[in-house]
Amino acid sequence: MLMPLGKASCLPLTIMPMKHSLFCTLVLLLSLVACDDRQPTEVCSPDGHIRLTFSLDSDRHMVYRIDVNDTAFIASSSLGFLADGGVNLSEGLKVIDADFSTTDETWSQPWGENKNIRNHYNEMAVHLTDAADTRLTLRFRVFDDGVGFRYEYDVVGADSILVTDELTTFHIAQDGTSWSIPANYETYELTYRTLPISGIDTANTPMTFKAGSNYASIHEAALTDFPEMTLKNLGDRCLKAELAPWPDGVKARVSGGSFTTPWRTLQIASKAVGLINSGLILNLNEPCALETTDWIRPMKYIGVWWGMHLGVESWVINDRHGATTANAKRYIDFAAANNIEGVMFEGWNEGWENWGGTQHFDYTKPYADFDIREIARYAKEKGVEIIGHHETGGNIFNYERQLDTAYQWYADLGIHCVKTGYAGGLPGGYNHHGQFNVRHYRNVVQTAARYHTTLDVHEPIKDTGIRRTYPNMMTREGARGMEWNAWSEGNLPEHQVMLPFTRLLAGPMDYTPGIFDILYERAKKNPARKKWNMMDSKDCRISTTLAKQIAEWVILYSPLQMAADMIENYEGHPAFQFFRDFDADCDWSEALAGEPGEFIVTVRRAGDKFFLGAATNQEARTVSVKTDFLEKGKTYRAVIYADGKNADWETNPTDYEIIERRLTADDTLSIVMARGGGQAITFEQLTMDN
Ligand code: NOJ
Ligand code: CA
Repeated sequence: MLMPLGKASCLPLTIMPMKHSLFCTLVLLLSLVACDDRQPTEVCSPDGHIRLTFSLDSDRHMVYRIDVNDTAFIASSSLGFLADGGVNLSEGLKVIDADFSTTDETWSQPWGENKNIRNHYNEMAVHLTDAADTRLTLRFRVFDDGVGFRYEYDVVGADSILVTDELTTFHIAQDGTSWSIPANYETYELTYRTLPISGIDTANTPMTFKAGSNYASIHEAALTDFPEMTLKNLGDRCLKAELAPWPDGVKARVSGGSFTTPWRTLQIASKAVGLINSGLILNLNEPCALETTDWIRPMKYIGVWWGMHLGVESWVINDRHGATTANAKRYIDFAAANNIEGVMFEGWNEGWENWGGTQHFDYTKPYADFDIREIARYAKEKGVEIIGHHETGGNIFNYERQLDTAYQWYADLGIHCVKTGYAGGLPGGYNHHGQFNVRHYRNVVQTAARYHTTLDVHEPIKDTGIRRTYPNMMTREGARGMEWNAWSEGNLPEHQVMLPFTRLLAGPMDYTPGIFDILYERAKKNPARKKWNMMDSKDCRISTTLAKQIAEWVILYSPLQMAADMIENYEGHPAFQFFRDFDADCDWSEALAGEPGEFIVTVRRAGDKFFLGAATNQEARTVSVKTDFLEKGKTYRAVIYADGKNADWETNPTDYEIIERRLTADDTLSIVMARGGGQAITFEQLTMDN
């Protein structure tokens, strides 16, 4: 029989809005009278405005629905899985009972957009069983900023389980607008689409949408040993979970009879920026599993990188080789002189000469012109960290064979931060986002942690918040980054104001912002440049203004934040002062205003400094924001990096101005942005001395 359904879920009744408390009391009375396991059971958010209801439908299928402010938001939607070999994961289940609880705690992380996060939810754990004694707990957590639920299966007597399909659906109750990339098990480096929800064919997550007056985003949390979830529209806005398969078509392999799935999540907010300010994904991850975290710290960095993408330098050893000892020292000197903590080198090791096909990189063999010991010594002397690079070309087998040796070797050199890359198909028919590779990515995170090494993963599995458990997993790519501007039609001005509302809801991104030579003028003049890409086409350029490039350092959160241009484009440039002053180690952040694909204004605090970033799409725009985030009673020196009067991303992208103002918490800023433009501001507290 059902336990006191509804009662605990909606407690405390005294603080519930009247409509909810009456409804919950009614459900309680009905369930007590009926003793029927098909009675709906429900749980509400702490503030009562989101209600999740679970029931068995007339065919005894498990279903849930979500109401926001008493209006259907997710209509009746399916739950469950299918498995091979006679294992039942969805049929004939009976509800045994349900447990209800409330959690309200604040936890801290060593780094993040916000170092302190409140975790406040009501939980309903529904326990089910079948005739063969299969046990399932459906754990629902309802927060003020959304819902998470997961499946905890225990199949008695099973040696292994082959999951063949997930039945979860998200049946969006009414049509609206959506922002997403298509589902693809190999890559997330795709262009975002704005579509009616009903017009989606497939989507990857985070899939953001607006239906009625609410914004929401479907994603997953704590993907640790499962394939990634994508979405497929079954029609009528009913989006079904689809899992990335193994080469033989199986979706997930479980050894033994027990498994817990990642959380299926739905962030919900009345404003689009509410999704960005939500801590739901991190809250649904396990606490930190590392014994110590004092070796993990955010950094600003530069790197021998953009020159390769522009064709001015090369990864492979030749007369254009980027990662030479001399160039490395030049970058280290620049970092030391400009308050930049790290320098990254690509193309330093053997294996690049055979690019294409199955890659065999050697992670302990530097090219002959890259004296890594001398470079490591020099960097240490200058107080600069080296960020290593492990490109795998997708050959994870070759990488796994060398994993321990490679991380030990770097650690012995004092290198404790590594950028990894998976640019290429995996051998053996495995796809990038299946369970097999999810395990690989996790193995790398755990191995790196043993060597006190932090990670920046390119071509990663999508972020699902595991940085809470493994804070050495600092940042990743997982969307079209800056590199696409070097050799393709590039990222259009709406891209960077789409990412915060979609990709970055999952977690930090190494977009690699801050290109100052927007039209590649210096690179094109370089006689050594190899024309290997589209760079000579008129479409190949950065599609923003200079001020927007600066603003991206604030907007596109990454605890390892790169100034991605070649250093010669920063030397002597007045606007580079922003990056010199910027602090990647923020304590608190808030997205103040914005709409997906249109504009965004974000502010971050690091110590007593504040950094604001604003950006717009192809429309010129003026946005008003209050500076009430500043400490009351203090005066700040604000340095504003703004679009110049004639700035325009298409016709005059480098027109900018730097303005100084005195501001307090009582002021209002009018942020004027050109087409494809932006604005960045540093706020420094004025004291008697400055
Ligand atoms: C793709 C990565 O995203 C990029 O940053 C890197 O330079 C290349 N692969 C080569 O490793
Ligand atoms: Ca990439």
